[in-house]
Amino acid sequence: METAAVNWHDYDAITSDVGDCFYVFDRSTLRRDIDDIAGSLTGILPNARLHYAYKANFAPDVCRTFADAGWGAEVDSPMLLWLAQRIGVPASQITYNGIARDPASVREALLAGVLVCLDAHRDIDVALQTAREAPGSVLHVAIRINSATDIDPAPRLGRTLDQVRDAVTALAGQPGIDLQGLSVHRPDRSPEGVRGRMRDLITVASDVFPDGPRLLDVGGALAARGVPNGPAHAASAAVIRDALETVPWGSNVTLLTETGAAAVADCMEFVARVVDIKQQSGRTVINVAGSLFHTSPNTRRVDFPVRVVASAQHGHVDGMRLVGGCTAVDGDWLSVDMPDDTEVCEGDFLVFGGVGAYSLSMGTHFTDPLPAVVERAGRGWNVVRRRPTFAETLAGFDLGPV
Ligand SMILES: Cc1ncc(COP(=O)(O)O)c(C=O)c1O
Repeated sequence: METAAVNWHDYDAITSDVGDCFYVFDRSTLRRDIDDIAGSLTGILPNARLHYAYKANFAPDVCRTFADAGWGAEVDSPMLLWLAQRIGVPASQITYNGIARDPASVREALLAGVLVCLDAHRDIDVALQTAREAPGSVLHVAIRINSATDIDPAPRLGRTLDQVRDAVTALAGQPGIDLQGLSVHRPDRSPEGVRGRMRDLITVASDVFPDGPRLLDVGGALAARGVPNGPAHAASAAVIRDALETVPWGSNVTLLTETGAAAVADCMEFVARVVDIKQQSGRTVINVAGSLFHTSPNTRRVDFPVRVVASAQHGHVDGMRLVGGCTAVDGDWLSVDMPDDTEVCEGDFLVFGGVGAYSLSMGTHFTDPLPAVVERAGRGWNVVRRRPTFAETLAGFDLGPV
């Protein structure tokens, strides 16, 4: 992230508006990563349509940056569908996944021309009923397949081969139903993982679509962590291309990708002020004004790169250094092996890099409002999201008389 010029005084200046912890959004890094990924994927898969998985980071500025670059949207809840439409993504560029969606939202999406990936029986029934009730409309659907991985040998999402066959029997040839093909997603980012999902897609597609499907949605998780985006996406794209070369219909199929984490990981940092440094049990505990629930609420990663942005004073602490968070949860560690070659003292800021994926969108307001999001603007800051007030955080409850 290109924030090297930002010094302690710059961070300190914004804290009076947003508090002692906040995300910093770097739009130019996001644009660079979007271009990098797009070039790698479409260079190898010219038929690919690129969609961004909104769940990875739903900050409207992030989603809009993808839309401006011509990417479609992958959404999996009524709220994210609403957001994609609000941002202006055309219905023809939206894919709607999910297992327990409100039937009204599935119906609305179908009628708007969104591609709806079907998994639950209920949604298949909604599609059939909507087609009957709206003669003349064309409803675009795909069926999500169940695909096991070494990481998850018994996934709960998607339909097994028999269940896909049942769905195809129910949907194919029905007036108004445009069954385009199949979709899948699995969290295994390795080339073997991508090969596995392609194998499953091709097996099922060959079984239920004698002439081949028109569309295969290969899901997200297309790049391994720690590998630069371009080469990692190119490796996944090559696996997909090679798999399609094994079937006669492979060159006719439209491919849909749904990248999330890899594209947004590096576009946000998390900044938290050091509030306390203690020596305890032979280790140094540095407590900050932010939490693991802001950097990694789901997978609870503690290996983000961390750097110190120091004030004028310096104090060196030796030995193992752990960074603790602001909640009362014992396991609230943001880092467990902060390098000990940097000086740090109370009042400094710690900056955690690469936290753009599944942080803000999964963050909790456990004990405090969600942190603000800011963006560097010249020598100052633009507030992308202000920190909600206490009353906004508790909105919906009856707080009683004052
Ligand atoms: C259906 C679907 N598509 C795409 C994604 C995005 O995956 P990633 O963020 O790993 O790229 C997910 C993540 O859960 C998903 O469930």
